Parts: sequence; structure tokens; C-alpha cells
Amino acid sequence: MKGVILAGGLGTRLYPLTHVTNKHLLPVYNKPMVFYPIKTLVDAGIDEILIVTSGPHVGHFLSVLKNGKELGAKHLEYAYQEKPNGGIADALALAEDFADGEDIAVILGDNTTDESIKEAVTSFKEGATVFLKKVTDPERFGVPAFDPKDNSKVIRIDEKPKNPASEYAVTGVYLYDNKIFDMIRECDPNYAGRGELEITQVNNLYIDKGQLHWKELEGFWSDAGTFQSLFTSSEYWSKKK
Ligand code: G1P
Repeated sequence: MKGVILAGGLGTRLYPLTHVTNKHLLPVYNKPMVFYPIKTLVDAGIDEILIVTSGPHVGHFLSVLKNGKELGAKHLEYAYQEKPNGGIADALALAEDFADGEDIAVILGDNTTDESIKEAVTSFKEGATVFLKKVTDPERFGVPAFDPKDNSKVIRIDEKPKNPASEYAVTGVYLYDNKIFDMIRECDPNYAGRGELEITQVNNLYIDKGQLHWKELEGFWSDAGTFQSLFTSSEYWSKKK
């Protein structure tokens, strides 16, 4: 399996910090944010990694990550997303050549977790696996609705719902088979009304095909795209032994 980290966007929720650099290079405690998802991939045995980035500070990535060796990556590639606000699925479409027919582990560059995904990576067969985490503010995220008759099944994912169907967030950690690139071609930029190709639509297409699996992340997980979540992440990692 190969790894893809999505580190684009304008990071408008973190202005004025993101006038200085790309969101994913801002510090989470003592490291640039993007170091954390890279470590999650490398610890899971994935050392061929693509960083998809965009926006005004893309050049900063090379001087920070270089060729990835210091972080344990054997092969680090970069892709440039022309539309910084094109959405997560639009960014992911750029990984098709890099994936070259293989399965991919995808982590949003502002997501940090201390949970290992190694077992899920090793046992992955087909379809999609999303990682869920119980949160107090599900309306900020993609939220799964479970089958009332069989709550091991996710029947739908709603993107930032006003009335969340569960207490879970779909985290930005996903495993996909190579069919994802066909699914992205089916996506509609008006799906969630924000002009973006949404990863939630991709996940719902996998649900329609009966091929979406999920696992709960037991350890710490947070995004870091708002001032509060950036602070929460830094605070957690500052105390982590
Ligand atoms: C994105 C996804 C959302 C997911 C979240 C995880 O939201 O659209 O489904 O729950 O990442 O961090 P965004 O950060 O783009 O608002």
C-alpha cells in the first residue's frame, strides 16, 4: 500500500497564521503538523508517500521535508493541486499516477493520532475503510449514520450535518482500493453546496456498493484546522510521554 497526505487548501480558518505558511507546516507542539501523519504512515510500514499541496506557500514543503529520509520515507513525491479550494477528492485525484494500481492509505495533513493503523493496513482487502472517533462536536465533521437494525453497518455519511445522526466523526484517515479514482470521476462539486469535490461523496459511493468498512480509532485523534483544535492537538502532544 502507498500513502497519500493531503496538505493543500488555503487554511482560511487559521488566518492570519496561514498568511505565514501552509497550514500543515504550522507547529503542533514541537513539530510541523505534517510530520505526524507522515509518522503514522511510516509506522504502518508505508514508506512511499505522496504529498498533495496547493496555495501560496507550496515551496515551503521542500525545505522542510526534503526527500523524506529524515522522517523514514523511502520515496517522497509532491503533487500540486491547481484549485486550492477544489476539495479533498479533487486533491486525491492527483494521486492516480502515483498509486499506479495499488491501494492507498490517505491521511488529511491536519489530522494527528497516536493510534497505529498498521493492523488495518496489513489486513486491508478491498473497498474503503474509514476510521471513526467519538467526538463532542460531530456537526464539524463527516458523520456516519448506522443501520438501526445492525449498528456494525454505516448506511450513510452526512457532511457537517446540523442534526448529527451519531456521536462519531469520520476522521481524515482512510484506506482505499484503486477504484477510488473512478469514484472521484463520479463526484459532483455541488454535492455539499461548497463547490468542492467531497471525500464524503466518495465514501457514500463506496456505501452504495456495499464496500465501506469502518474501524474506531481508540487512541487520541484530532484535526487541527481551527484555532481550538490546533491548540487541543498541541496540548495533547506536549503531554504525551
Ligand atoms: C474534512 C472532511 C470531513 C472530515 C474532516 C476530518 O473536513 O470533509 O468529512 O470529518 O475533514 O478532519 P474539513 O476539514 O475539510 O472541513
